[in-house]
Amino acid sequence: MNLPNSLPDYYDDLALSFEEAWSLIVAGVTNRNSPSHMPAVGTVDALGVPHMRIMILRDASRDNRTLRFHTDSRSIKAEQLSQNPATSVLIYDTAAKVQIRMSGKAHVETTGDMADTAWSTSTPFARRCYMAVAAPGTPSVKPSSGLPDWIEGKQPDEEQLVNYRANFAALMVEIETIEWLYLANVGHRRAHWQWDPAQNQWAGRWLIP
Ligand SMILES: Cc1cc2nc3c(=O)[nH]c(=O)nc-3n(C[C@H](O)[C@H](O)[C@H](O)COP(=O)(O)O)c2cc1C
Repeated sequence: MNLPNSLPDYYDDLALSFEEAWSLIVAGVTNRNSPSHMPAVGTVDALGVPHMRIMILRDASRDNRTLRFHTDSRSIKAEQLSQNPATSVLIYDTAAKVQIRMSGKAHVETTGDMADTAWSTSTPFARRCYMAVAAPGTPSVKPSSGLPDWIEGKQPDEEQLVNYRANFAALMVEIETIEWLYLANVGHRRAHWQWDPAQNQWAGRWLIP
């Protein structure tokens, strides 16, 4: 029996697969329905245990090989990254049948133009998360949002948010590897690209899926 054979242009084309990978990644910044909008971001703790969590992708730059996320500067992931910058980012796009695994190094930026702009262009509602009194992950004797009582269920204004800017951080991932897995009945395709700093370019190759 022959399997259905409608395959995309990038199926056997390494360069086009790379283009498609970036196209899927970048779509997550503006398209809330794109699976790339909510990747799983992995960090490693002091014991070497990996920790994954969903984060909203805020920016993706192919030229700079960076992804930007927003987080609390007091968060556990921020502490982990200060000890060990190793990071992975995972996306599965069901419609495209593509898994993208990225790895690299991440750091958090609490000050500077980029973090300032990221803060000021976020909605007040999104910035309310950073009003939590205790750091995220702090044990609580009762169920709690962590927010001060007076802002529960409300949207803060700019003046009310000013004091909480220090809790906000941009988490920047510098991508060093990208792995691609395209699922097809006729045969899967897997590829890997490694950033080569000496050549200032990506080095790609096919892998057996
Ligand atoms: C849909 C969704 C989106 C989320 N977006 C973010 C985000 O953009 N930034 C963030 O720090 N946490 C986000 N979270 C919460 C994280 O998954 C995680 O629970 C939290 O950041 C604490 O992680 P940590 O203890 O490893 O620092 C999101 C969770 C969900 C379910």
